[in-house]
Amino acid sequence: MLNFDYHNPTRIAFGQGRIADLATLVPAQAKVLILVGGASAEKTGTLAEVRTALGARTHATFSGIEPNPSYETAMQAVAQIRREGFDFLLAVGGGSVIDAVKFIAAAVPFADGDPWAILEKHGRNVASALPFGTVLTLPATGSEMNNGAVITHRAKAAKLAFSSAHCFPVFSVLDPTKTYTLPPQQLANGVVDAFVHTVEQYLTYPVNALVQDRFAEGLLHTLIEVGPRLLAAPEPVYDDRANLVWAATTALNGFVGAGVPQDWATHMIGHELTATFHIDHARTLAVVLPALLNERRAAKREKLLQYGQRIWGISSGTEDERIDAAIERTRDFFERMGIATRLSAYGVGADAIDGLVAQLQAHGMTRLGEQREITPEVSRRILQAAL
Ligand code: NZQ
Ligand code: ZN
Repeated sequence: MLNFDYHNPTRIAFGQGRIADLATLVPAQAKVLILVGGASAEKTGTLAEVRTALGARTHATFSGIEPNPSYETAMQAVAQIRREGFDFLLAVGGGSVIDAVKFIAAAVPFADGDPWAILEKHGRNVASALPFGTVLTLPATGSEMNNGAVITHRAKAAKLAFSSAHCFPVFSVLDPTKTYTLPPQQLANGVVDAFVHTVEQYLTYPVNALVQDRFAEGLLHTLIEVGPRLLAAPEPVYDDRANLVWAATTALNGFVGAGVPQDWATHMIGHELTATFHIDHARTLAVVLPALLNERRAAKREKLLQYGQRIWGISSGTEDERIDAAIERTRDFFERMGIATRLSAYGVGADAIDGLVAQLQAHGMTRLGEQREITPEVSRRILQAAL
């Protein structure tokens, strides 16, 4: 096992009805800015519940944070907060709203020029941030219990990530019933995003981290079990939603990844697909991962065999046959979740690959993966195999 530090200060309030707890979770004297995405928080009644729970606290609402949140919109919120003096932020939404709030929280006190530099330096230059909490409405990213965020600079067509110890939510309210209004494609996205987060931290090379491996395998089994059931159920089933929420949160709250090598190349290549073609985050992962696993089969051999055996029960055939089968089962799982795993299904052809590789280079994504061996040429092969 590798050396590690693990510190996660985010308080979780989990379960039905927990939005009422905002009454005590948010500091009593706080001047609160609630931040939401499009219309969903209002339509579902969640926003009204949040406002009621805030009681007599002074508060206002900033709406309009888009999926794959933009720097441009976030900076409008930064201006409003500086102008009106809010001292506590409350994100109500999915990963996009929460990520935007992390960036906004860090950008408000940022004194070193244009806050876009936070993304360019991947958060190393964040010295402080406003405190914020979250009310999660879409289980997928794990953003509700980690310190990372991904922001898109529209004008630059750049989607970059940052993280900072200052950007953990103070608390997150996880009410599984808030997922009941999600359309099936967002549920499927959530399952696949959480699945790939787990894989990025598990399917690398062995370091005898038995707890992390078994924990990761438990998450993958959970997602494979509940995923198709979530799509098939005529009415939402509370326990399946609860298990999805907690699986997605724990897949990226730092626990599975402590003391183990991590890959993240699928995410970095996927971010370019979203920045250029606006494909949903999870769908980019479903396209890239099978091609990447095949390309990296030698470097990942031992873990691929372990994954095939323990997750998919593949125990017969040569090693190469077992690895082929493990990758096929992964692709098949994504397809059963209703998510296409080929670039062509999203209208992206071979002519796009030069541009995508150039963007990876422009963003410094030239030595990706747990071994730092995924050069732009390797990324090109992965994208070609994903067509
Ligand atoms: O905008 P509204 O109207 O709220 O609608 C949203 C949005 O259109 C809707 N939605 C959310 N909750 C709903 C709902 N609709 C009905 N009922 C509800 N309860 O769902 C749509 C998608 O929301 P979004 O927040 O964009 O989805 P997700 O949670 O998948 O977040 C994706 C973003 O997170 C980043 C991605 O790159 C992407 O930008 N990620 C963040 C990570 C992190 N911070 O750790 C890690 C991930 O790998 C990921 O990169
Ligand atoms: Zn992700």
